Amino acid sequence: MKVIKTGGDLQATIGQLNKSPLGFVPTMGALHEGHLSLVESAAEICPVVVVSIFVNPTQFNDKNDLRNYPRTPEKDMKLLDKVLRLNDMVFMPDVNEVYPQEDKRQFHFGNLDNVMEALHRPGHFNGVAQVVSRLFEIVNPDIAFFGQKDFQQLAVIKDLIRQTGSKISIIGNPIIREDDGLAMSSRNTLLEPDIRKNAPVIFKTISAAALMIKEKEIPEIKMYVSEKIGRVQGFEVEYFEIVDDIELIPVNSGNQFKRGRKYFGCIAVRAGKVRLIDNIEIGVT
Ligand code: PAF
Repeated sequence: MKVIKTGGDLQATIGQLNKSPLGFVPTMGALHEGHLSLVESAAEICPVVVVSIFVNPTQFNDKNDLRNYPRTPEKDMKLLDKVLRLNDMVFMPDVNEVYPQEDKRQFHFGNLDNVMEALHRPGHFNGVAQVVSRLFEIVNPDIAFFGQKDFQQLAVIKDLIRQTGSKISIIGNPIIREDDGLAMSSRNTLLEPDIRKNAPVIFKTISAAALMIKEKEIPEIKMYVSEKIGRVQGFEVEYFEIVDDIELIPVNSGNQFKRGRKYFGCIAVRAGKVRLIDNIEIGVT
């Protein structure tokens, strides 16, 4: 694999290789099995894959969160070395490369701006859209791979593609979990031991909620989720919503389910000092 720091070098190398489709896996580093599964999927269908590692300042609405975000460049390189091939590239730009000038663009994503993460992390998706559109401009991939753990982010990126008329195909890969069910996340390394030990309660509870849909009303299910998790020391549910996979409109009663849509239970939890998200498909048919 080649490690490249500037957009110019990246474009020149991609040009010389002249192979398609070009696969792209954007990351913020602190890599884990979830990222590696994206890279492996990309490598299955793309003769050349670019993995970017860039902790994007514009998507952090909280300065402490940006400061504390895990950074493990040496470990990342070792992991990537196992899955990337000779012609694949790791793109590690610095901030001036991605943002030569301050990015003042404002993106709008309809209902996606009004629910869940957008309400709890104001400006977050604008920052995600800024960085993803810049990285797309620099890398110019054919196919880009994202994790379904960031369910709302995936919907935002698909909408960005639709709004800009871009030809890039977006692939969402299933969540990769630890053996005890906790969704893999770079932030898991920040969990204090006691909190980490109890963190599987999140997936256990939303899995139970997904099964309750046939018998219980949605407000009752939501109450169950927030009480069950909230009872564990150090855990607090920020939201649990059942939404469709396109517009992410929260459903509060069984008769609001639309035919042909998939529905997901999406959760954000404060686990000690760390904020975790997860989701599960709710079978409503
Ligand atoms: O999901 C992430 O790691 C980030 O939000 C992304 C897509 C790499 C943009 O910084």
